[in-house]
Amino acid sequence: MEVVIAAPEELVALAAGAIESLLAAKPAAVLGLATGSSPLGIYDELVRRYEDGRVSFAHARGFLLDEYVGLPADHPERYRNVIEQEIASRVDFVPDAVQGPDGLAEDIAAACVRYEAAIAEAGGVDLQILGIGTDGHVGFNEPGSSLASRTRIKTLTDQTRADNARFFDGDVEAVPRHCLTQGLATIMSARHIVLIASGRAKAEAIHHLVEGPVSAMWPGTILQHHPHVSVLIDPAAASRLQLADYFRSTYAAKPAWQGL
Ligand code: F6R
Repeated sequence: MEVVIAAPEELVALAAGAIESLLAAKPAAVLGLATGSSPLGIYDELVRRYEDGRVSFAHARGFLLDEYVGLPADHPERYRNVIEQEIASRVDFVPDAVQGPDGLAEDIAAACVRYEAAIAEAGGVDLQILGIGTDGHVGFNEPGSSLASRTRIKTLTDQTRADNARFFDGDVEAVPRHCLTQGLATIMSARHIVLIASGRAKAEAIHHLVEGPVSAMWPGTILQHHPHVSVLIDPAAASRLQLADYFRSTYAAKPAWQGL
């Protein structure tokens, strides 16, 4: 696990650079796309690089991390619509190259199985963008999630619904109670995981993710078992790390040729 503590602009450039390099080496790469506010800077930077002709998504595929259950197809906070607006429609993904779990499926369990099969059929995720919840969730794998979980329905915690009320005009009751999410084992199958987080509210979750024991109580800790994880955090999100000085000096001395 590499931990980079830097200003948000530098973190965004690092993540976008990793995606640009991946697509240059493998134009048909498969990207794992998170929603929420954390990845928005990365998406804006990718759009800038696309407009500058540095990167193309024409052969790439994208898979969403998660989706709310039951939000109407045209609801602006439905994650499929959020991703369309924030990245898919702003670059040259071909239609249907980006898909998400079907939160409107009549048979939810079957939709989850289909989603896992679609990811596998695409060859698996090359690079997964992740955020982290204040309670340590990745995807919507809330505390107590099985560390071996696959895509399935989950119930959001009150804390996550309160955190996400800002996307629903502050109305916590408007935040769906259920979601579909890639499981922790699904996320762990990605070949490279890039997690980005900023702000003091994320500091405890980041402390557990990086320095805590692996536990379903802090689901993100499973990433300690992954061979290629980049944790990109600003100083506020790093404020509870015991190893912060070590991570800073390691990054300062990083060989120039070494990407994320
Ligand atoms: C979003 C997702 C969530 C968010 C997390 C942080 O697809 O899976 O895990 O990454 O809730 O949300 P923000 O970035 O809004 O703080």
